[in-house]
Amino acid sequence: MLAPTSRTDAPLPPTWAPVSEHSLREALGQFATGVTVVTAIDPQGVPVGLTVSSFNSVSLSPPLVLWSLGRASRALAAFQACSHYAVNVLSAQQLPWAMQFAARDIDRFAGVDITTGLTGTPLIGGTLATFECANRSQYPEGDHIIFVGEVLACHSSSQAAPLLYHRGKLLDHAGLGT
Ligand SMILES: Cc1cc2nc3c(=O)[nH]c(=O)nc-3n(C[C@H](O)[C@H](O)[C@H](O)COP(=O)(O)O)c2cc1C
Repeated sequence: MLAPTSRTDAPLPPTWAPVSEHSLREALGQFATGVTVVTAIDPQGVPVGLTVSSFNSVSLSPPLVLWSLGRASRALAAFQACSHYAVNVLSAQQLPWAMQFAARDIDRFAGVDITTGLTGTPLIGGTLATFECANRSQYPEGDHIIFVGEVLACHSSSQAAPLLYHRGKLLDHAGLGT
């Protein structure tokens, strides 16, 4: 069995200069991703959710996925405490939901078609795919926490075009950015 490892003492090349946040953001922005909304119920029973592009697969057996949450997120305590969460993969037509679930000081769930999943987690209707996850493990790294979820149920129903995120822009199927 492999144990988790961590290296922070690797030797630096002689020409090393610290990576600026600006150049890192620019380079990472070249990596196109899909867009999800991760949802859960907080300890008070209130739905929480945020737009997340850091979603990815980890393992098929067991079925594991990951995403990362900024330490400054107001939803951090809720996601650290919840037993389950859902990853909702947005279609191009759902671009407004991506903006709504990233906005501050609004009801992010207002007007959104919500159902309740097998685990009691809010699910967004009309998405390309949904992953209902057990909150399996969390790994603090830098200014984010990496969440690994065990997929308990998943659905993929739509042939619709995906919502994409590239160079800081949300792109719908016509390639129009927001
Ligand atoms: C396209 C897009 C992708 C995002 N991806 C992430 C992400 O992977 N992780 C994260 O913590 N925040 C991400 N955010 C920011 C959150 O959606 C949210 O705006 C931020 O966490 C502040 O709200 P909060 O304090 O309620 O979490 C993303 C925002 C957008 C628009």
